[in-house]
Amino acid sequence: MPQMDSANRPGYYVTTPIYYVNDVPHLGTAYTTIAADVFARFQRLRGRQVHFLTGLDEHGQKIAEAAEAAGLEPKAFVDRMAAPFREAWAALDATPDDFIRTTEDRHQRVVQGLWSRIATTGDIYKGMYEDWYCTGCEAYYTEKDLIGGKCPVHERPATKMRTESYFFRLSAYQERLLQFYAAHPDFVLPASRMNEVVRFVESGLRDLSISRANFRWGIPVPGDDDHVMYVWFDALANYVSALGGEDAADYRTFWPADVHLVGKDILRFHAVYWPAFLIAAGLPAPRHVFAHGWLTINGQKMSKSLRNVVEPRRLAGCYGVDAVRYYLMRDVNFGLDGDFSHAALVGRINADLANDLGNLLNRTIALVEKLAGGVVPPAGEPGERERALREAAERTAKLAAEELDAFRPHRALEAIWALCGEGNRFVDAAAPWALAKAGKTAELHAVLYAALEALRWIALMTLPVMPGKARVALSRIGDVEPPAWPAAWGGLRSGVKVVRGDPLFPRIDADREKELALMLGIDAGAPETAVGQPRAEARGSDSGTAAGVAGPAEPSVAPAQEPNRTLLGGTAAESLRGQGAAATQRVEGLVPYDHFAKLELRIARVLAAEKVPKADKLIRLSIDAGDGEPRTIVAGIAARYQPEQLVGKRIVVLANLEPRKLRGIESRGMLLAATHDGKPCVLTVEDEIPPGTRVS
Ligand code: MSP
Repeated sequence: MPQMDSANRPGYYVTTPIYYVNDVPHLGTAYTTIAADVFARFQRLRGRQVHFLTGLDEHGQKIAEAAEAAGLEPKAFVDRMAAPFREAWAALDATPDDFIRTTEDRHQRVVQGLWSRIATTGDIYKGMYEDWYCTGCEAYYTEKDLIGGKCPVHERPATKMRTESYFFRLSAYQERLLQFYAAHPDFVLPASRMNEVVRFVESGLRDLSISRANFRWGIPVPGDDDHVMYVWFDALANYVSALGGEDAADYRTFWPADVHLVGKDILRFHAVYWPAFLIAAGLPAPRHVFAHGWLTINGQKMSKSLRNVVEPRRLAGCYGVDAVRYYLMRDVNFGLDGDFSHAALVGRINADLANDLGNLLNRTIALVEKLAGGVVPPAGEPGERERALREAAERTAKLAAEELDAFRPHRALEAIWALCGEGNRFVDAAAPWALAKAGKTAELHAVLYAALEALRWIALMTLPVMPGKARVALSRIGDVEPPAWPAAWGGLRSGVKVVRGDPLFPRIDADREKELALMLGIDAGAPETAVGQPRAEARGSDSGTAAGVAGPAEPSVAPAQEPNRTLLGGTAAESLRGQGAAATQRVEGLVPYDHFAKLELRIARVLAAEKVPKADKLIRLSIDAGDGEPRTIVAGIAARYQPEQLVGKRIVVLANLEPRKLRGIESRGMLLAATHDGKPCVLTVEDEIPPGTRVS
């Protein structure tokens, strides 16, 4: 099959999966997006014309069901859910060149064209389909794939489906796929995944059902309005539709894609179905599909039901976006599963960022200020030591580029940090303070220049991963050139002023760590507790202490008294933040901070609202509280509000209140309101605060 070698063309095309819009951005999807951004920024630094694509998968049964649960039409629902993705990626400093949504006309037009083109080969036919379907995966399973009748991925019952369907004759592509893999052994990366794909295809391929007639939320099949396309046929085509289709200029510049970055869970779709569709349509396949591993949180799978899904913006808000990007790219071997932990993130910030890099920058600038008048000194005659540092920098730039080209950011960063180490050792060994004392000015200048130049190389190489801080570092050492991947030693111009500034990455000491832990909802005394995971003891929450009580039944909920609670006039030897330090005598009527911290107050956005039939005061609300799926709460606020006045408002909810049934509706949480003139007045906040943000 045709597959062009795109290595030497100016265009570089990198994609993320398009994310299902019923979810909210979480650390897993942020991980793929940040990785794609790192590769895009790296290639831009090398002067390539980059197209970085991300977007949203907005069709299919799963989305239709989520919209229904939220009480919205599918289009209104996807429009509402799309904004947080754009916002999250911007907050994480991701720089996509395009953001495609599968409900856009430009996409639908190209997908229908692709379908028609494949149909002319005779490899799309109509038949009957019967198998087990999991809407979570939007995929069919055979009986033997199920575990106890349940989907092996989502662990919930699969549904038996018998339906008329169009099929793609995938079975006819087995040989052609195997030939293609043999000719392009690095099509799937890492190599171990290529072997899995080959084994899967060798074991035989069944024809693929590619249409649905049992629901309408999809792209109509050309010439048959009773069918919509299978969501994966629709979704995979985004990589071509975003370029404008085969006749567009962008298609000629960027197709075939250099790499589709995907999680290992969706490799089969990208490495088997997608190239088969492309072969059928006579189009080249992408150069690489890279399957990265899965992130767990402190060893636990991220899942909405465990409520340990980390809100990436919140994380970046606490630790800084560059630190989070660095941690994710450095700590996890890209391609393998990895674990996110608060303690490991803090460890990386302190050791790698504050110590190794921050220190090298700080001490070098301090030395230049003290010993060279605060300006970049002349490079002078480099001695043995300077030459060795230069060679180390050149080796590192070559190696780091190779690693980034091969999608191994962790290894690139490892190499760059080894150079930081060399830089620090260089300064120690050269002892510029001694050279100054001995009046060896030319030697002193050569040493300081080399240290600054090495820093310039390090900062340029870290730009793809830490764009913000790397730019700050460059400006502090007087580098004003447009950034490019470092190639020629000696780019710094002497005479330019250096600037000391605050530490690039302040160390996170124990107190700050506890403060951040509280902000993130982690148990401060146990930093290994999953971020965002509710603590076991938080269940008996102090509902009676909330500022205003909205849920009508809430006033009747007795404040749950913890068995060992000595809140009023007690003698518990706890400090204000429950750190177990010196004994603090409790004052009657005051609560210790850790009791307040147990209340999970969050910002939520009202997605839909309606009156509860036969209940004067009750309104049922569907809210986005940052859980990744809408939740229902019932509130006694109808005396002041009409349901439609509430839609779109950002409110404050107590998210970890025990669920209660009100008029047969389970209310999962309580909104805050102040009672004024006998009527509840709901607390609202500014529009831009994202749902799920913790109120503390
Ligand atoms: N819509 C499909 C993809 C269609 S692409 C043509 C889909 N969407 S998804 O929202 O479920 O996102 C899947 C991707 O999110 C994964 O493949 C992976 O890139 C990322 N991740 C989701 N959870 C993850 C982790 N816990 N860890 C790492 N990445 C994960 O599938």
